[in-house]
Amino acid sequence: MRRKLIAGNWKMNASKVQCEALISALLQNIPHSGGADMAVCVPYPYLAQVESALRDATIRLGAQDVSEHDKGAYTGEVSGAMLADFSCKYVIVGHSERRSYYGDSDEVVALKFLAAKRAGLIPILCLGETLEERERGVTRDILKRQLDAVFDRVSIAEFAGAVVAYEPVWAIGTGKTATPEQAQDAHAFIRDQLRLKSATVAAETQILYGGSMKASNARELLVQPDIDGGLIGGASLIADDFIAIATAA
Ligand code: 13P
Repeated sequence: MRRKLIAGNWKMNASKVQCEALISALLQNIPHSGGADMAVCVPYPYLAQVESALRDATIRLGAQDVSEHDKGAYTGEVSGAMLADFSCKYVIVGHSERRSYYGDSDEVVALKFLAAKRAGLIPILCLGETLEERERGVTRDILKRQLDAVFDRVSIAEFAGAVVAYEPVWAIGTGKTATPEQAQDAHAFIRDQLRLKSATVAAETQILYGGSMKASNARELLVQPDIDGGLIGGASLIADDFIAIATAA
C-alpha cells in the first residue's frame, strides 16, 4: 500500500509573520490518524524559520526548485546541498510555472531531478498538459514526452523513490479541478509508463494530483486508486483547508 502524501506548495507567498502563524496552526491541528504524510514547500528565505518551527514535528520541509548545478558561479541559484543543509526532504522540479515563465525545458527539469537525487532529496516531478493540449487530445503525448525526457538522463534505479505530481496546467489556480475520472486516467497512464520500466517502481511511486485541490473536492480525488495524495497551492496557505485535505487523505 502506498502512503498518501499531502504537500503544500506555498509558491511566492508568505512573510515571516505569516509563516509563524501558518506553521503553528498546522502543528496544533495536525491529524493524528497517521494516514497521510504532510509536507510544506516554502520559499527559500523561510527555509530556516520553518525548519526550526518544524523541529520534532512530522510535517516535512520542502523547496520549490533547485539548481541543476552542485556549486559555483551561478548567481541567484540554490543547490540541492543547500536545501539538504536546511533539512529539506522534498524539492519540486518542473512545476508548470517554472516551465512556462522561466523556460525550464524538459532537459533542465531532468538535470534538476538528478541534482536533487545527488543531494539526497526527494524530487517531486511535475507533469501536466495545457488546456489547448487537452482540447487537442494530446494529454498522454505530453505526459509521455515530459516523462521520457527525464528517463533520457535518469535510470529507473535512480528514479526509484521520487514522487510524481500530475498538475494539469488549466486546473492550477483557476478553481477548475480535473474530474476524478480525468485525474485517475492521467495517473493510471503515468503509472503504466513507469511499469514499462519497472513493475516495482510503478507500484511504489507516489503520484500526487495538483490543481485547485481543496477540502471540498479532496476526498473524491484521493479515493481514486492511482491518486496517492495532493500537491496543493492556494489551499495550503489556509491552515484549516490544508488540514481538512490531510484529514480527507
Ligand atoms: P492550486 O492548488 O492553487 O491550484 O495550485 C496547484 C499547484 O500548482 C501546486 O503546485
